Amino acid sequence: MARSALLNVMVQAAFKAGKSLARDFGEVQNLQVSLKGPGDYVSQADRKAERIIREELLKARPTYGFLGEEGEEIKGTDGAHRWIVDPLDGTTNFLHGIPHFAVSIGLERQGEIVGAVVFNPATDELYTAEKGGGAFLNDRRLRVGARKNLSDAVIATGTPHLGRGNHGKYLIELRHVMGEVAGIRRFGSASLDLAYVAAGRYDGYWERDLAAWDIAAGILLIREAGGWATDVDGGSKPLEDGSVVCGNEYIAKALREVIHRPVPAK
Ligand code: IPD
Ligand code: CA
Ligand code: CA
Ligand code: CA
Repeated sequence: MARSALLNVMVQAAFKAGKSLARDFGEVQNLQVSLKGPGDYVSQADRKAERIIREELLKARPTYGFLGEEGEEIKGTDGAHRWIVDPLDGTTNFLHGIPHFAVSIGLERQGEIVGAVVFNPATDELYTAEKGGGAFLNDRRLRVGARKNLSDAVIATGTPHLGRGNHGKYLIELRHVMGEVAGIRRFGSASLDLAYVAAGRYDGYWERDLAAWDIAAGILLIREAGGWATDVDGGSKPLEDGSVVCGNEYIAKALREVIHRPVPAK
């Protein structure tokens, strides 16, 4: 598998931030933690990782823009490129000592995601994709799962936390999906949820109330692994909409239908 120079820059930035996260994960009880809103935590580890990634990426490509979860957006001067970065996707897991979190870096060119890196430093799993070049887990080429029926499918989701999203609407969707599928998982890192679909571990995934940095990289992984990813209402702009439903063609379509199934009148 040959990686472009640009993808290598992204991989090196993710590795460097991953090292910092792995060190902080070992001393998680000593980290300063604050709340951005109800149920919405951020720590020193998130901020440090973002600083590392921003420095690495902008050193390599000073004219590109940079959008990260924890800082002010930097507008690029080249007008075409932007990095979209979640320095620590799965902060709640991280702060609870659960080794399921990732660095997520997407590269946007003229409004389209063309490069993706998702790296879990706790498992050393590195997911990469470039537009037209396929998706990989370390050196292994990825392909979404082949199951066609929801009744055979394991589906991941994200539950809106305290203070975020429409809990009532979500519970209705969850009930509909639960009644059709083999199993549901909620592991707590949107970028890894998408990476797991690309790897065929999950057959599908849906979530609302997300930000562009949660899903920019993961959506390219899915598409390059032969899968479908749209926003929950079927539109082609999940980043703008902040929602995603995905899987192979059959599962993504079926999941979308079930999510939108009307609530039966009592
Ligand atoms: C969160 C995770 C989680 C999802 C939340 C995100 P963060 O990101 O991806 O799985 O359900 O909506 O905000 O805050 O840990 O980077
Ligand atoms: Ca966050
Ligand atoms: Ca996130
Ligand atoms: Ca984050």
